[in-house]
Amino acid sequence: MSTSNPIDLLFGGMSKLGPGDDVHTRRALRLLPRTQFKVVVDAGCGAGRQTLVLAKELATLVHAVDTHEPFLSHLRQEARDAGVGHLVQAHPMDMKEIPSAFPHVDLLWSEGAAYNIGFANALATWASSIGPDGFVVVSELSWVREDAPNAAREFFQVGYPDMQPIERNVQIAQASGYKCLETFVLPAESWIDGYYDILEPRAKTLLDHPDDAVREFASETIREIEVFGQSEGSYGYVFYVLQRA
Ligand SMILES: C[S@@+](CC[C@H](N)C(=O)[O-])C[C@H]1O[C@@H](n2cnc3c(N)ncnc32)[C@H](O)[C@@H]1O
Repeated sequence: MSTSNPIDLLFGGMSKLGPGDDVHTRRALRLLPRTQFKVVVDAGCGAGRQTLVLAKELATLVHAVDTHEPFLSHLRQEARDAGVGHLVQAHPMDMKEIPSAFPHVDLLWSEGAAYNIGFANALATWASSIGPDGFVVVSELSWVREDAPNAAREFFQVGYPDMQPIERNVQIAQASGYKCLETFVLPAESWIDGYYDILEPRAKTLLDHPDDAVREFASETIREIEVFGQSEGSYGYVFYVLQRA
């Protein structure tokens, strides 16, 4: 790779850009009371692991939204290789523009990406485009237990001070006009398999990269993985399956 962009150096070519896996994407889909949706949008799709699951399971067009064009190119290629190129439309755009680009969304999906514009802000922003009887399925880093070890508390005080307990995120969703159908926490394997187990050795090889920004990003990533190892299950990626109230 000839780039010095820390994101591309660390994540380039990866199918999974955050915790998650196909089994849990399908599990969340099956919690919805219906399977037919006219307009489906995947916000912060990345390389589109979950986009492909949605396209295959729903057999309908999925609008995949991301600001990072290299991830979208990867997704287009993967979709063609998987025989669902015709069911995936990639949009290089900001997820906060979804209501103007897609005024009537039936199913808005977002795995590990809503935090980029703030979980509460994302739900409130998208609400205007979710029709009555429409759904939002979003996974969000959340506190799972009150007694988190200090290493985790201290890391996220700086890294993600807005991280909330599950009950608080449910209240936030309700205040934005959704009812919560279900929540579930991803298991530790969803963080490790195909994600941390690829990132960790990559990050280690970048620790002596000539670019400061790359070295810093690599060492933050290594620290994040160490904290995860000490977290005792105190935080996790949580799926919130929401219906417009
Ligand atoms: C942690 S990755 C998750 C990607 C994918 N959903 C997955 O689980 O593999 C977050 C994604 O959000 C994208 N992103 C960040 N800010 C964004 C924004 N404002 N609008 C759209 N996409 C954004 C990033 O480019 C990245 O692909």
